[in-house]
Amino acid sequence: MSLMIVAGTRPELIKLAPVIKSLNELGLDYTFVWSGQHYDYRLSRIFLEQLALPNPDENLGVGSGTHAEQTARLMTALEKVIERRKPEIVIAEGDTNTVLAAAMTSTKMGVPFAHVEAGLRSWDRTMPEEINRVVADSLATMNFAPTELAVVNLTHEGIDLGRIELVGNTVVDVLMENLSRVKELKPKVLNELGLGENEFLLATVHRQENTDNGVRLRNIISALRELSEEIPVVFPMHPRTTSRIGRYGALLEGIKVIEPLGYLQFLSLLSACLAVLTDSGGVQEEAFTLGIPTVTLRYNTERPETVRLGGNYLVGANRDEIVERTRHVIERRDEIVRRIREAENPFGDGRSGERIAKILASRKFEIRSSDTRTDPYITYALRKNFSGEILSMYDSGGVAVASKSLAKFFTVRGPASRLLTNSP
Ligand code: UD1
Ligand code: UDP
Repeated sequence: MSLMIVAGTRPELIKLAPVIKSLNELGLDYTFVWSGQHYDYRLSRIFLEQLALPNPDENLGVGSGTHAEQTARLMTALEKVIERRKPEIVIAEGDTNTVLAAAMTSTKMGVPFAHVEAGLRSWDRTMPEEINRVVADSLATMNFAPTELAVVNLTHEGIDLGRIELVGNTVVDVLMENLSRVKELKPKVLNELGLGENEFLLATVHRQENTDNGVRLRNIISALRELSEEIPVVFPMHPRTTSRIGRYGALLEGIKVIEPLGYLQFLSLLSACLAVLTDSGGVQEEAFTLGIPTVTLRYNTERPETVRLGGNYLVGANRDEIVERTRHVIERRDEIVRRIREAENPFGDGRSGERIAKILASRKFEIRSSDTRTDPYITYALRKNFSGEILSMYDSGGVAVASKSLAKFFTVRGPASRLLTNSP
């Protein structure tokens, strides 16, 4: 079995680390491809070092660009590597342009694609990441869903249950694995920055909708400045944000702006802060896992479990709203922390990487050639009337399908465990 793992950004290295570790333990053969979407040491190599990941076998070196430029370069370069290495399956994690390119290139070449962290939906198609998720999930031969809600989202889009596995989120695995190192490092990190435990706010901002919009970016920075008059605010700044601040000219005085941190240093700060203000996806998950209250600088989230369980507040990018809601979170911190600790972690038990590797090792994924089947096989179609109501469902021969198949569609709101056993 020869696998190909494709990664290209900071969060992909972090979240694929447990999968790579488990593949190594099972002795599976894989090629590790680095796309080069991220290239600064602090967004790439530092994670290979800290997480003891192997050096990539291939570096596509695609760098930055517009979405179309970057995706086109990624696809062109990846096509050559897939052609040369001939993997049986290509695996990618998350929702970046690297993932989009991996899904489209492999599928078009007839090579199965497996998507780790499938089924997340913000329901906001103005987000580039949402487009990438929808395309990757719909093309994937295997969708590794991190939560029950992600399973529901996938089935809602008509993705067959045979292409979905509920495995948890690898973010918990890597966090748990490194927690003792983080505890050891924490006093040094806090000391170097002159911070005390539970005496500061942590901020991260890099999302396109916040950084490429001057009004939003200035609002967020202005809110952080105001909060920093009451309590220290530490802001490890993503290079995208640094470049946009240069363009839009927001004032940073009072905010402790630092370079992007390594994983262990970042988790040291996250585990010691009063609350985190962020538009990151991974940070919302990590904060919940560590029992840290989150103020999310967005109007929606593809991690709604954290909001529903009372650990995360969706605040958006309005200056006053950010300041007031953060003060409120600080005042009610004990209660919020208690709520998070009492909840079952929706992101799983820290064994996702192992589950993914075992599934990859045990399933046969076939390279697809042109379809030669002559038997009529069923495709289901939803018919809607003009008010959007579902009238009926048909198979490819125009025959209404059995109620068992209908049940599959109408029970998608139930818990995933039941859904999976209901599978026809
Ligand atoms: C990308 C992902 C985003 C993910 C984030 C993780 C897409 C569409 N976006 O966003 O989903 O949350 O990675 O961090 O795939 N830059 C550097 N050095 C680098 C990399 C980037 O300076 O090593 C700067 C450049 O100015 C570049 C900008 O950051 O133009 C944006 O980089 P890009 O890879 O396009 O997107 P991210 O914002 O990093
Ligand atoms: N992270 C890090 N250093 C930092 C900021 C974040 O190591 O200075 C880690 C963080 O622990 C999380 C991941 O980067 O695991 C999140 O990446 P990012 O916010 O860039 O992307 P997203 O998760 O939003 O796609």
